[in-house]
Amino acid sequence: MSQEHAGTESLENLLHETRSFPPPADFAARANVTASAYEDAARDREQFWARQARELLSWSTDFTEVLDFSGAPVARWFGDGRLNAAYNAVDRHVEAGHGERVAIHFEGEPGDTRTITYADLKDEVSRAANALTDLGVRTGDRVAIYLPLVPEAVIAMLACARVGAAHSVVFGGFSAEALHARIIDAEARVVVTADGGYRRGKAMALKPAVDEAIAKGGTPVEHVLVVRRTGQDTAMTDGRDVWWDDTVATASAEHEPVAVDAENPLFILYTSGTTGKPKGIMHTTGGFLTQTAYTVRAVFDLKPETDVYWCTADVGWVTGHSYVTYGPLVNGATQVLYEGTPDTPDKDRWWQIVAKYGVTILYTAPTAIRTAMKWGEELPGRHDLSSLRLLGSVGEPINPEAWMWYRRVIGGDRAPVVDTWWQTETGAIMISPLPGVTAAKPGSAQTPLPGISADVLDEAGQPVPDGHGGYLVLTEPWPAMLRGIWGDPQRYQDTYWSRFPGKYFAGDGAKKDEDGDVWLLGRVDDVMNISGHRLSTTEIESALVSHPVVAEAAVVGAKDDTTGQAVVAFVILRAEAVERADEEGEGADVVAELRNHVAKEIGPIAKPRSILVVAELPKTRSGKIMRRLLRDVAEGRPAGDVTTLADSSVMEQISTGMSG
Ligand code: WTA
Repeated sequence: MSQEHAGTESLENLLHETRSFPPPADFAARANVTASAYEDAARDREQFWARQARELLSWSTDFTEVLDFSGAPVARWFGDGRLNAAYNAVDRHVEAGHGERVAIHFEGEPGDTRTITYADLKDEVSRAANALTDLGVRTGDRVAIYLPLVPEAVIAMLACARVGAAHSVVFGGFSAEALHARIIDAEARVVVTADGGYRRGKAMALKPAVDEAIAKGGTPVEHVLVVRRTGQDTAMTDGRDVWWDDTVATASAEHEPVAVDAENPLFILYTSGTTGKPKGIMHTTGGFLTQTAYTVRAVFDLKPETDVYWCTADVGWVTGHSYVTYGPLVNGATQVLYEGTPDTPDKDRWWQIVAKYGVTILYTAPTAIRTAMKWGEELPGRHDLSSLRLLGSVGEPINPEAWMWYRRVIGGDRAPVVDTWWQTETGAIMISPLPGVTAAKPGSAQTPLPGISADVLDEAGQPVPDGHGGYLVLTEPWPAMLRGIWGDPQRYQDTYWSRFPGKYFAGDGAKKDEDGDVWLLGRVDDVMNISGHRLSTTEIESALVSHPVVAEAAVVGAKDDTTGQAVVAFVILRAEAVERADEEGEGADVVAELRNHVAKEIGPIAKPRSILVVAELPKTRSGKIMRRLLRDVAEGRPAGDVTTLADSSVMEQISTGMSG
């Protein structure tokens, strides 16, 4: 592992960033959380979290234990407590008299809308829980969810939680192949899907991918529950597939939520690691809900009576789990859920939605902000965005220019911006300014939240002094931390806890500035970040090599102005394929075919931006591919130090091929 991804250029730029924006006085005066939270948490970290757990959640059995880390690196939080996640997200708000409050303003891409109150949500989730029970789902089971971003996605997740089953949401943009692997790994008995969803004005089928995944064999799937979204023709398998409209819609709205142990699995979510096989990140109930609920209050300053919150993430990613389904609903928030792309029908769709619903809190990704910058400020300028009072960013480092644009153009130079660092594995926000406390620096996540301990270490595991860079680690267990990798405890230990024994290694490079504030610098492993989505170089390499014409492949994440990084692949073709391409002039076809092949194997988000056919790859004498050099080529730089290459002429050939 090296720090080559950390990028010295970006480090240099960031060193010159000196602007800072203190919270507006009226915001600070009304903020949910003030500076005293840091002191409270520092005095007694565990009691701080125990207080949050009791204040923010309703427990059917109170806990007496707070943290038990005797089974490190697997933590137990609030271990002898019992609760139900769906009850916390829905029922108790109805019981408290907020049944008429809107939980979800749904906006479909074609312009259809639905308003779902907390009372409606309680009925819907209860019906879905009864329907899942009828399909054989029991406490402790796993259910796969493969849906577009429609309310049923949130309802299905909560219905699983209501019966004490873990959901495994698979992003609707993933392929049948990826879905198949995830269903098998999680041993899901039921899949919840839809006929299709709307994307860029088209009805895109989803159900056929589920059929294809199950047809590959080896899955324990007994039933498929199908939401009707687009109304397109959909094949149904008798005895296996049922329509949501025939089962959920007709089920009873009475359902008793199952109280589970705080450590009962709430969900598994697959994410890319440094090997080809995605990791099933496992989260449990009590700690996850505590920290997601706390961070919505503290970082987004949510006031459930008056705010309209919008997190633009899909529920297929962790941000959609923590900051669409659980964190906001546990707080009783009113939120917007938008199905489609930001440019359908026009490039001002998001800003139109903000104005229409009076969104006050917006949480999105740097790639979306950079895309909006590219489209021009005239588009947001057409709409009244004055309702916005807080802006959040997540998913990748946000460059200071994008941060400033977000603040000025979207936030009217008024709304605080919070850059929030966290991961699928951390479950909830870990490092972020507090909007009523911190003087925000453009491009920095700045400070570990109250109750969170982080540091930046050098190669030898020593904390770096202020003004220096190194590896980001978390030094104390936190409530929403993953409890492991599904079915692979050893990989959990090896991936996160062996680089710096006793500390959680996040895989990110970071720098502490002269004030000790943290600046994230990107991944230091073979994980890429494309539009805020994690993809593994190895996974895409395996997909390429699985194509019959490919002999060898190397993939790098190259810097991209909009998507942060872009996938660039270098492939060596098998001799037969090279001959064929030469004879028939099929070179371009091979590249197109390989790009489609990757989309089919993993999903369209993994499609390489470019594929270069090369004769050799740069390797060390021990046979390790030097991706650093390929990245130089992909980013249009002269290749760096080639002295450790087995054959130093290889880079010359590749660079010539590139410019030729
Ligand atoms: C990156 C998304 C810089 C980081 C919640 C991390 C960030 C990976 C930030 C996790 C941020 C996320 N600044 N980098 N504010 N937020 N990252 O699991 O590299 O999809 O390790 O979770 O995204 O991606 P994941």
